[in-house]
Amino acid sequence: MKYGYFDDAAREYVITRPDTPLPWINYIGCEGYFGILSATAGGYSYYKDARLRRITRGRYNNVPMDFGGRYIYVRDNANGSFFSPSWMPVRGKLDAYECRHGMGYSIISGKKDGIAASTRYFVPMGENLEIWDLTVTNERSEAADLSIFSVAEFCLWDAQDDATNFQRNFSTGQVEVDDEVIYHKTEYRERRNHFAFFSCSEKLEGFDTQRENFLGAWRGWEDPKAVVDGKSDNSIAYGWQPVASNHVKLSLKPGETRRITFVLGYHENPKTEKFDPPDSQTLNKKYVKKTIAKFRDHGAVDAAFAGLKANWDTLLGKIQVKTPDIHTDRMVNVWNAYQCMATFNMSRSASTFESGIGRGLGFRDSNQDLLGFVHMVPERARERILDIAATQFASGGAYHQYQPMTKKGNNDIGGGFNDDPHWLVIGVAQYLKETGDYSILDEQVPFDTTPGTEVPLYEHLRRSLQYALDNIGPHGLPLIGQADWNDCLNLNCFSDEPGQSFQCLKGATDGKTAESVFIAGLMVLSSRELAGIAKEHGKPEDEEFYLSTSQKMDATVRQHGWDGEWFLRAYDANGHKIGSKENDEGKIFIEPQGFCVIAGIGIEDGLARKALDSVNTHLATKHGIVLQQPAYTHYYIELGEISSYPPGYKENAGIFCHNNPWVIIAETMLGNGDQAHDYYTRICPSAREEISDLHKTEPYVFSQMIAGRDAPSHGEAKNSWLTGTAAWTFFAATAYILGIRAEYDGLRVSPVIPKAWEGFSASRTYSGVVYDITVKRAGPGNSVLLVADGKPVVGTVVPLPRDGRKAVKVEAVLS
Ligand code: BGC
Ligand code: NOJ
Repeated sequence: MKYGYFDDAAREYVITRPDTPLPWINYIGCEGYFGILSATAGGYSYYKDARLRRITRGRYNNVPMDFGGRYIYVRDNANGSFFSPSWMPVRGKLDAYECRHGMGYSIISGKKDGIAASTRYFVPMGENLEIWDLTVTNERSEAADLSIFSVAEFCLWDAQDDATNFQRNFSTGQVEVDDEVIYHKTEYRERRNHFAFFSCSEKLEGFDTQRENFLGAWRGWEDPKAVVDGKSDNSIAYGWQPVASNHVKLSLKPGETRRITFVLGYHENPKTEKFDPPDSQTLNKKYVKKTIAKFRDHGAVDAAFAGLKANWDTLLGKIQVKTPDIHTDRMVNVWNAYQCMATFNMSRSASTFESGIGRGLGFRDSNQDLLGFVHMVPERARERILDIAATQFASGGAYHQYQPMTKKGNNDIGGGFNDDPHWLVIGVAQYLKETGDYSILDEQVPFDTTPGTEVPLYEHLRRSLQYALDNIGPHGLPLIGQADWNDCLNLNCFSDEPGQSFQCLKGATDGKTAESVFIAGLMVLSSRELAGIAKEHGKPEDEEFYLSTSQKMDATVRQHGWDGEWFLRAYDANGHKIGSKENDEGKIFIEPQGFCVIAGIGIEDGLARKALDSVNTHLATKHGIVLQQPAYTHYYIELGEISSYPPGYKENAGIFCHNNPWVIIAETMLGNGDQAHDYYTRICPSAREEISDLHKTEPYVFSQMIAGRDAPSHGEAKNSWLTGTAAWTFFAATAYILGIRAEYDGLRVSPVIPKAWEGFSASRTYSGVVYDITVKRAGPGNSVLLVADGKPVVGTVVPLPRDGRKAVKVEAVLS
């Protein structure tokens, strides 16, 4: 069953009923000001950091799940009835409802008793504010006397403290109201120099800034006293819970439409100019007044919206494809690319499933996010790489996370996740192939963000590999440390106390035995990538060294990491095998099968084929490929968190979508386009739209997990949006199935598509040159004959034009 449809031409997903199985959200903002926005106008906003600079409040694990947001009430003053065009929070029956989630905006519309109201929510480019652009139409045959109420609830900035420290926070709230604008300035009197504001394009009938006055005692968002009475209280918050609510009266003739724009914004004053006059306690509003005045004009609002659209046209225009498969097209051209931007911006911090107060930016996550993003905004990728590298330790190890606001490593979690450093090499290699910007390798970057410790970025990459070489276990495989890619395989933790962090617990072992075959595969790849970087950087000795490092690890994996039918997963702290036919549970894991093949291990001698066949036999389901089998039925202290989940969920035999594209890429490397695309389709949200009532999460973005076959809810997805699945599936589809990928010497065109496809076309901007590519199938295989601008190309890489032309026409014939 579906809850909406794709409007592909408009690049929108149209939700046609508000009671979706879970909140179906969108994100607004893509620079500094961000918001989560659900299809029923729920969600919250923040500036840069969802924990430390929260602008509006979110309540965790709420009932209903999506409650609290950017609400509008339309009241008929003739009889006192009212509704919310977004259905929530009033939840009355609407005569019509629709939400269009688009690129950085959502338009939520509702109709009741002949009054239609539609709100376009978005964050203009270059501004730290969001616009709620409301249009109200009287479709009745007689005049309507209406009241419009808007409301947002402020968070007292630090979202964690806001959610817990009431003894203080109920006594700190402060606002100012000036020229009908509400200013939220809690803690501004002391150490903050930032505030929020809420303004309206129309003359106000009244306002409220104290929640209790707006809602009334013992009432909720669904029937606020101000709305029921048709009258605001003009309250001024002093402590308690500051809100921003406006009341506007509208008299509409039959058929008349009026527009009201609300603006919620954030501003930082210079520390020396906090007050105006300087010796007062009055906010200095001089810098924001211009902005507020600007967006009172509807023309400025429309221009800002056009600017946002143009920005997304440019970003998405970098890759556009036309294939025989609608799901591939809409994911690649629109939604998957869009999701990559969200994961790049939010990492894993703020979503329906991430509270925004927990995690910072992950070292491994952010490096992988680059894979899906670097072609869109290379300058931001550059900055991100340098920020990540600056949190590396001199040993080459890394903090597992860092905070986006301070850009410092997160001490609560620390380091010792031994896969982390390899991802930096892989992220940088991708950046270099895409941009050719070798100057980044000479950038001076500190260790542990400590001034005075700077070395060139290239040296950071060398230390990454050095760390790996310094942490080799008894079989010659990499030691796992706290965990590898699988945060829940905790081989050194032995946790037996509730509440202990599986990831952070140390001391149960000396850490010198448990080894990871997954990291071994990753290392075969990362050292080969570093060899490639060394070559481009003019360091032939390094190149040779890293190539031989890669080959040695490849040999070690064959010797100690092969189980007969598939790659082993690991050795535990007692030296026992994990992911082996010898185990009763957890005999085979997906990660080493996918990644060892990506690294090229066993492609020539058939081990790779065997491993992928085993994946198909033991792990593949119709809803995607599960992480391991058989699921762990009880807790194994020597394995940690993985065995803490009920079978079929998360890392315990769930379909952990992030690693499915590894198998997809691996299948393309073995030339199997049918199998690759089949696996792609199984987890592809658009292809699962028809089963939305089972799948439950948004059909336009990938989810981290789909319940595996051991769970009663097999096929049900969770943790949508913020997942490494976004970048990896985008990369798998574009770079490996469609086969268009950046290399040091040009753009490779080497598709491995299904046999039934007659071909496809694509436009791909690479290093500022637009490659217009047409692929035609002449036979069932994957051999490619390339012609670029009428001239045959040797091999499968089309170099950049030497004469500075900005367009290349590529014709590819597959046979
Ligand atoms: C989750 C993992 C996550 C880890 C680290 C675990 O509880 O299951 O998916 O990666 O925590 O945050
Ligand atoms: C989620 C984490 O963000 C990611 O880094 C990790 O690889 C997966 N969980 C698997 O455990």
